[in-house]
Amino acid sequence: MSSAKPSTIPPDIAPRLLAWYDRHARVLPWRISPSQRAEGVIADPYRIWLSEIMLQQTTVQAVKPYFAFFASRWPRVTDLAAADIEDVMKAWAGLGYYSRARNLKRCADVVASEHGGEFPDTEDGLRALPGIGPYTAAAIAAIAFDRPAAVVDGNIERVFTRLFEISTPLPAAKAQIRPLVGEATPLERPGDFAQALMDLGATLCTPKRPACALCPLMDLCQARQSGRQEQFPVKPPKKEKPVRLGAAFVAERADGAVLLVKRPETGLLGGMTGVPTTNWTVRADGATGIAAAPFAADWHGKGAISHVFTHFELRLEIFHAVVISAPEHDGWWSDGDSLPGEALPTVMKKVLQAAFPDRFRKGKP
Ligand code: ADE
Repeated sequence: MSSAKPSTIPPDIAPRLLAWYDRHARVLPWRISPSQRAEGVIADPYRIWLSEIMLQQTTVQAVKPYFAFFASRWPRVTDLAAADIEDVMKAWAGLGYYSRARNLKRCADVVASEHGGEFPDTEDGLRALPGIGPYTAAAIAAIAFDRPAAVVDGNIERVFTRLFEISTPLPAAKAQIRPLVGEATPLERPGDFAQALMDLGATLCTPKRPACALCPLMDLCQARQSGRQEQFPVKPPKKEKPVRLGAAFVAERADGAVLLVKRPETGLLGGMTGVPTTNWTVRADGATGIAAAPFAADWHGKGAISHVFTHFELRLEIFHAVVISAPEHDGWWSDGDSLPGEALPTVMKKVLQAAFPDRFRKGKP
């Protein structure tokens, strides 16, 4: 499937991109802008690490308020290490992929206790920390420490598959992209180079209708020359996500308090807060209705919600009951004052919105 690739890349990719970045860099709360850098401001590895963990699987827009909250509440890695894990989980609620938050805390603990509160400044050293994979290690090494690491995220994949018309579908194409990015990465300002590529992908070299006329690499881009920009990157055929079925039970006390439980530590949403549910591993073959309620009550159907996780779609039937005398059950009753501050993952917010359309508004935090 792959076509022949040049073995070297045009030497002016880096200077052109850096010149473009100096004029058009996005202003981001964790970023040292080119002008700040020129004034001698240096990046804070803690803030770069925090942003990179948050940006895994989450958009820049969604990350901004969470980043602001974490950076002001726990301004240094040692503050995060000293924090209570429950407070960290609560602050993370809504960002999704909760194992990231657990690893965030573990990583802060290790940096504080084993590295004197300083992040290692090499890709290998970073890679050894909890929650830091090859992409994140390269990104932190480049952005925080100006190491010439080959940083390859989704935006950069798009830029490079277009520049070189790489027709191998992702993710197999990564094996071709990485060495090309490595070759293109300059020894001067490699961190800005990586961020310039990210910004180019986010603002001009977009998945649909890329703004090629404004691109500093326009005349070097093979896909632009053949008018096939939108055909890259080539994606593998889409697999339909399997659907899982389950039920969620919203028990309400006469005073409006809602029964919440802490989910088991292992599994999806491990350790997170929610209303009692059936097991979600059931597909069409397990109990997903009133029969699976945690205790007998006057349960009424409140419709269903759907939530898409990475590997499956979850459809939850919602049941609601007002209980007169609170039944014996694990968990706690969260009243109208405390419920908004609970660390509820998005799927649980959807459940409560379905059960109480007037009490819960969409949106976070
Ligand atoms: N996506 C992932 N890391 C990023 C960064 N440092 N800046 C902008 N977008 C990003």
